[in-house]
Amino acid sequence: MGLDRAASIDDLRSLAKRRIPRFAFDLVDGGAENERNLRRNSEAFEELELTPRYMRDVSRIETGTRFLGQDYALPFGMAPIGMLNAFWPEADVTLARLCKRENIPYVASSAASTTLEKLAEAADGNGWFQLYVSGDDDVTEGLIARAEAAGYEVMVVTADVPAAGKRDRDIRNQLAVPFRFTPEVVLQCAMNPRWALTSLSHGTPNIANYADLLKSATSYADVQKTLITARFTWEDLKKLRARWKGKLLVKGILHPKDAVKCADLGCDGIIVSNHGGRQVAFGPPTIEALPGIAQALAGRIPVAIDSGVRRGADVLRAKASGADFVFAGRALAYGVGAGGADGAQRAMDILNLELVRALGQLGAASFEDVASKV
Ligand SMILES: Cc1cc2nc3c(=O)[nH]c(=O)nc-3n(C[C@H](O)[C@H](O)[C@H](O)COP(=O)(O)O)c2cc1C
Repeated sequence: MGLDRAASIDDLRSLAKRRIPRFAFDLVDGGAENERNLRRNSEAFEELELTPRYMRDVSRIETGTRFLGQDYALPFGMAPIGMLNAFWPEADVTLARLCKRENIPYVASSAASTTLEKLAEAADGNGWFQLYVSGDDDVTEGLIARAEAAGYEVMVVTADVPAAGKRDRDIRNQLAVPFRFTPEVVLQCAMNPRWALTSLSHGTPNIANYADLLKSATSYADVQKTLITARFTWEDLKKLRARWKGKLLVKGILHPKDAVKCADLGCDGIIVSNHGGRQVAFGPPTIEALPGIAQALAGRIPVAIDSGVRRGADVLRAKASGADFVFAGRALAYGVGAGGADGAQRAMDILNLELVRALGQLGAASFEDVASKV
């Protein structure tokens, strides 16, 4: 199957799997422990039924959406993904440019394999910055100051990594960052020559924002310790709120009480997320956590959601469950893995086409029109 015959995000995932070495594919595709949450995220979306309403005029479908005071062409954006150039070379910049072209938000990860400055340039006004709070205050402040200088106006603080996720696939693959060229890794590279050659010409991917700090790290878990602290508390969030003059969102909220606390502290919004099932295997799928959170917030601050979005209709399911905006992570990443910039565009077109058709079928002329009762 070629890109032009890929009909769904799942098809793009299959294409990506065929041309990426297993250790690099698993790094993006995998989840925590037995991957129950990873599976449940998309299953729960799929299980949520929306009842079509007919005989309404849907001859003009409007996908544009206003979020955080900005007009976007679609009601979804690209979630932050670390180390994505390992999946496919230049993936970060490719996606940042795609988001600019399509006028949707691109969230640059602290742990991206491209510096936040380069991503700000590629996303050209559509970039948001995602912060991991480090155990070293100077490291955190350094990142915030760089993000400010690079012109980011929205900062997304990720709250759901108090401990590194235990990802069984990465342990089995003996994943290390930067990669260790074990005989097995070399063999996997040899079996995927296109990936190997393109990767070789771009250099080994690393976590670009901390390149100097990480020289001594030997494992991905080790890297996570440098990047992310286990003592990030509400007090720290209060300080971040005072420090960051732009819009501030908290990502990784799953409990209604945590959502309300974010609103109380003056945050501009939250992202209901379980990190795409990469942190725990025992938590709720986000689409099931969303209604309780939206109800508790009662419109005080906007609510976005990610984790498990694989179809355009999922974006509408999210809206029907109380979301104001949606993020896709792997869905767009699989596109780049399947075919670089063309593949990323294909993923975007598939989601867009599905979204427009689902809106029509639901009798909704816009995202705002999607009824809140499912
Ligand atoms: C490979 C990978 C790396 C990720 N890195 C980050 C990160 O650096 N920061 C962050 O806040 N979230 C990170 N996430 C989580 C995503 O932002 C998002 O929550 C998740 O991918 C949504 O689930 P989905 O992939 O099912 O759409 C990562 C996800 C993946 C798959």
